Amino acid sequence: MTPHNTVEVERRVDAGWLGLEGSRVLIAGAGGIGGACAVAYAKAGASVAVVDRDRATLDALSILLEPAGVPFLLIEADLTEHGAGTRVVAETVDGLGGLDVLLHAVGINDRRPILEFTEDEWDHILQVNLSTLFGLAQAAGRHMVAQGSGRVLALSSVSGLLAHHSHGPYAASKGGINQLLRVMAREWASAGVTVNALAPGYIETPLTAGELAKPGKRQDLESLVPAGRLGTPDELTGPALFLSSRHAGFITGHVMYIDGGRTLV
Ligand SMILES: NC(=O)c1ccc[n+]([C@@H]2O[C@H](COP(=O)([O-])OP(=O)(O)OC[C@H]3O[C@@H](n4cnc5c(N)ncnc54)[C@H](O)[C@@H]3O)[C@@H](O)[C@H]2O)c1
Repeated sequence: MTPHNTVEVERRVDAGWLGLEGSRVLIAGAGGIGGACAVAYAKAGASVAVVDRDRATLDALSILLEPAGVPFLLIEADLTEHGAGTRVVAETVDGLGGLDVLLHAVGINDRRPILEFTEDEWDHILQVNLSTLFGLAQAAGRHMVAQGSGRVLALSSVSGLLAHHSHGPYAASKGGINQLLRVMAREWASAGVTVNALAPGYIETPLTAGELAKPGKRQDLESLVPAGRLGTPDELTGPALFLSSRHAGFITGHVMYIDGGRTLV
């Protein structure tokens, strides 16, 4: 069997178990985690729309999506612009023929003590991390509630639970995500729409590259994790696909920690 055939067989097995073949998935954020998930959904046979403000990130992802052989759509947009969520959901429904799953994987961080932030800097982090989820999930929710099914997933963080130093606005945005998703989960449950979050510990992506490059930082962070290591974007893909699948229809309002035990200690 050639490597190509092996990939094909794996894809059919995944699709058979998950039932995601033919699903229409919108992913916000083409970075480390959003990009890995986009490829995983595509390998499971789903059509994928990916939105990001950075053209180069989208172009790099398209090279990884092409081999899966499923329809995909790349949308360049700044999600903090007024009405962006509604426009992106409409473009996705139009381009993919519907929408079954929304994965929000957009986020920024600025690691400084609270006393150093200006109001504008606070507003910006909350807008990117939390308000873009509200805009996209509200527009997706309108569509999913009307069709009587859907899955909404957001990237939260261990910072939504733990009081990490120099993470004030970021932690507040993630705590906000945790509560927003619980209310959405409650309001949309009777319409067959589930809403959950994935909350990673430290994962190696462009978001964390600068911090990890600082002398001794990697060792410091690894020492806080019972598993003794940091995570990879691929370790988010299985949980994302499972929570999007037919097997997760009765799971809603949860924050799933994917952190090697970081929140245990
Ligand atoms: N990497 C980690 O250790 C980690 C840990 C916990 C939670 N998370 C969360 O996971 C999510 C994804 O993180 P990542 O590590 O993949 O980050 P990343 O920086 O690799 O990707 C984020 C993407 O969001 C895009 N983006 C930022 N602002 C945008 C905007 N206004 N409009 C459109 N696109 C925008 C960026 O261009 C980037 O491609 C974030 O919500 C992050 O907070 C990450």
